[in-house]
Amino acid sequence: MKNRIQIIRADITTLSIDAIVNAANRTLLGGGGVDGAIHRAAGFELLDECRTLNGCNTGEAKITKGYNLPSKYVIHTVGPVWYGGNKNEPKLLADCYRNSLNIANLYNLRTIAFPAISTGVYGYPLIDAAKIAYIETFSFLKQNSNPKTVIFVCFSENAVSVYQNVLDEILNNI
Ligand code: APR
Repeated sequence: MKNRIQIIRADITTLSIDAIVNAANRTLLGGGGVDGAIHRAAGFELLDECRTLNGCNTGEAKITKGYNLPSKYVIHTVGPVWYGGNKNEPKLLADCYRNSLNIANLYNLRTIAFPAISTGVYGYPLIDAAKIAYIETFSFLKQNSNPKTVIFVCFSENAVSVYQNVLDEILNNI
């Protein structure tokens, strides 16, 4: 299982893999953060396709082509805004990972990369979000052979060490 997970520090828009996941908003019409970076790198055709999707509910995921991105596809998912943890945020964040992985499996994709969904503008505490990302991903990978590899893309050294520490803690306790 551990050999199917990778933690890297990178700009997700530079990865030449089957699919990168976008931490979008419900309109799917672009924004700041990783959403803005992906739309800038993909070009206007991405927005044109997103316009046909009629938005996306929090926790759900929708797929588009990658256009000018090196990745073939973009899986757009909408994370929860953090309000303290009592507004279903953990379940909705878990839904983002599971629904994105389900789409990757449906499309027979081998490698998918996630940013740290909801941990930027949406304010989700990084440690808690990383735990949910791993628990949901491990549970999915146990039951599915695709995707073969899941990459967690961190945008800072701090995020890399948080993701690594959380992974070590989980692996030591299973
Ligand atoms: N590559 C990888 N990770 C990135 C990149 C990038 N190019 N840019 C930002 N990140 C990281 C941030 O450091 C953070 O850890 O992605 C994580 C998610 O942060 P946001 O992009 O702010 O996304 P989120 O917190 O889910 O908020 C979504 O922000 O940009 C708007 O339209 C978006 O309204 C939506 C909201």
